[in-house]
Amino acid sequence: MSSRGSPALQKRELGATGALISAVGLGGMLLSIQGRPPHAAAIELIRHAVSEGITLVDTADAYCLDDSEQGHNLRLLREALRGSDQVWVITKVGCTRPGGAWRVDARPERLIQAAEQSLTALGREPIDLLQLHAPDSRVPFAESVGALAELVRAGKVRHVGLSNVSANQIAEARAITPIVSVQNRFNLHDRSVETNGVLDYCTKHRITLFAHSPFGGAQNAPELGLSRLSQEAKRRKVSAYRLVLAWLLAKSPAVVPLFGARRLDSVSDSARATRLGLSPEDVQAIDQLLAPRASG
Ligand SMILES: NC(=O)c1ccc[n+]([C@@H]2O[C@H](COP(=O)([O-])OP(=O)(O)OC[C@H]3O[C@@H](n4cnc5c(N)ncnc54)[C@H](OP(=O)(O)O)[C@@H]3O)[C@@H](O)[C@H]2O)c1
Repeated sequence: MSSRGSPALQKRELGATGALISAVGLGGMLLSIQGRPPHAAAIELIRHAVSEGITLVDTADAYCLDDSEQGHNLRLLREALRGSDQVWVITKVGCTRPGGAWRVDARPERLIQAAEQSLTALGREPIDLLQLHAPDSRVPFAESVGALAELVRAGKVRHVGLSNVSANQIAEARAITPIVSVQNRFNLHDRSVETNGVLDYCTKHRITLFAHSPFGGAQNAPELGLSRLSQEAKRRKVSAYRLVLAWLLAKSPAVVPLFGARRLDSVSDSARATRLGLSPEDVQAIDQLLAPRASG
């Protein structure tokens, strides 16, 4: 197996590729959308994540304020990661930001164009892993996936992944091209991957399941400190954030959470979650804590 990066953090295999990535990754979205930190602070934060042993960063061409600065987050990563070849940069195409809104556009010609622009913005060829941001209800799913497969054949993309998909869609895509990852929401408030077959499918077929928005997004994240988990976290002398990431990691060897951050402390704390191993009994106890309580 080839390994890139610091040995300090637990690593997980990317799909069944043999490549190792840090068991948690930094999501770049908050560094480029509304409420983002100043440029220099964003660069510092990305470099801080690398210094903490993180070798996986998730981005998308749509992480920007609006379409006029498409690729903002990719350019930020290009600048911050100069000389950090050990870091895997995984990106997505298939969304646009007209006037700052989020729109899915997964027409094959648009995906190819967006991938070409992403290559230029990132300054790396091939792209380590290109993910379809979301299926487009106006486009046959197989055509969107076919465009990504074409980019692999052209040598512009190493691996293909999907995002915001069902187990049936993963199976449909795998008939077209190898799929190494799926990026779906997985957090305390949305555990649908545990019941809709996606987690089981990914585990069975050795597909990495990137758990996006592990704290429920920037707006919900502060509430985690007040959640039912916080007592348990206190007992273990860790933050509730670290406990959530460890709980996600313990769900399956396929899971790799992608957390967002704007503060250096958030990065340092979340990175350490990979050192907090939870037993199946611990996971069960946390699941019970999260179960809805009977009223009356
Ligand atoms: N594929 C998709 O459709 C999709 C959709 C959404 C997100 N994503 C991916 O998932 C990533 C994460 O999502 P997200 O950033 O929206 O939400 P998130 O990771 O659930 O929450 C981010 C918030 O958590 C806080 N935080 C992180 N670690 C912390 C710690 N140890 N202690 C206290 N607070 C902590 C951060 O606070 P500070 O800001 O104060 O540091 C930040 O505001 C994105 O960057 C993106 O890569 C993908």
